Amino acid sequence: MIVESRADDEQTRLWNGSAGRAWVETQEVLDQMFKPFENLLMEAVLAGRGGRLLDIGCGTGSTTLAAARLLGAKGHCIGIDISDPMIAAARAHAGREGTSARFIRANAQIHPFEPASFDMIISRFGVMFFDEPVRAFANLRRAARDEAGLRFIAWRSAAENPFMTTAERAAAPLLPNLPARRPDAPGQFAFADQRRIHRILEESGWGKIEIRPIDVACTLPETELGHYLTRLGPVGMILHEADESTRAQVVKAVRTAFDPYVHGTDVRFTAACWLVDARASSASVARRVAPA
Ligand SMILES: C[S@@+](CC[C@H](N)C(=O)[O-])C[C@H]1O[C@@H](n2cnc3c(N)ncnc32)[C@H](O)[C@@H]1O
Repeated sequence: MIVESRADDEQTRLWNGSAGRAWVETQEVLDQMFKPFENLLMEAVLAGRGGRLLDIGCGTGSTTLAAARLLGAKGHCIGIDISDPMIAAARAHAGREGTSARFIRANAQIHPFEPASFDMIISRFGVMFFDEPVRAFANLRRAARDEAGLRFIAWRSAAENPFMTTAERAAAPLLPNLPARRPDAPGQFAFADQRRIHRILEESGWGKIEIRPIDVACTLPETELGHYLTRLGPVGMILHEADESTRAQVVKAVRTAFDPYVHGTDVRFTAACWLVDARASSASVARRVAPA
């Protein structure tokens, strides 16, 4: 069981409902599409000192398992995620690999981690969903030993990531109830503002903060595009509620809107993201963060 704060209930519902199920079903395609980001996280894992690693919002576990493979016998890798279906998929995957990595189903914002028990914290797109980000990152700071590393990847703005909003823009005239994106609210683009990321990390006790823009080429097979656009994002969230004729119109309009990204058998796009690094600094945690 996990205890949630009020606003987080929305994220808990989402990731335990349609979004979580869609990610599990699309797991292989997403892991392939986001492989370049896994590689960026693994660079930090390799360079890190110590093998106790925590993966935030680990989803179906691909990055946690990659870290466990990389660290071998000296690794103690734990993935944490709020989603039951995603953690179940991660555990199944771990079972097949026979890895020592473990998975916790809990809210990383408030989970009572053992203090100073991690050397490295990583996340691929798993830290933008906290309803109280400073509280969440302060909780992670307490879980990290002094000088532990933090590396995560988050999306820059929706405007810089037109691929990610193509479906909703094309579907909007046909789906009036499409959930709106709210700037700075928990969600995919919550960390679009670099200054906001910096402030959150600084206020939660992280130092040596480096936030670098990265533009990463991503690919998925064209054969997966139909599934991708009907299951994920705001359109995927509500398309099943529409009647059959509206659904067919939406699929047609959205698929056409993706034409510029289709190159033969591949769909290609550039992901505009932040690569964020920080260190658990003992001075700043004492100065700024009161224990919860
Ligand atoms: C965009 S997915 C990324 C999943 C995974 N890191 C990957 O790259 O495949 C975001 C993940 O964050 C998880 N998440 C959202 N809020 C969370 C929270 N408060 N604590 C732990 N996990 C959370 C979701 O359940 C979801 O699995």
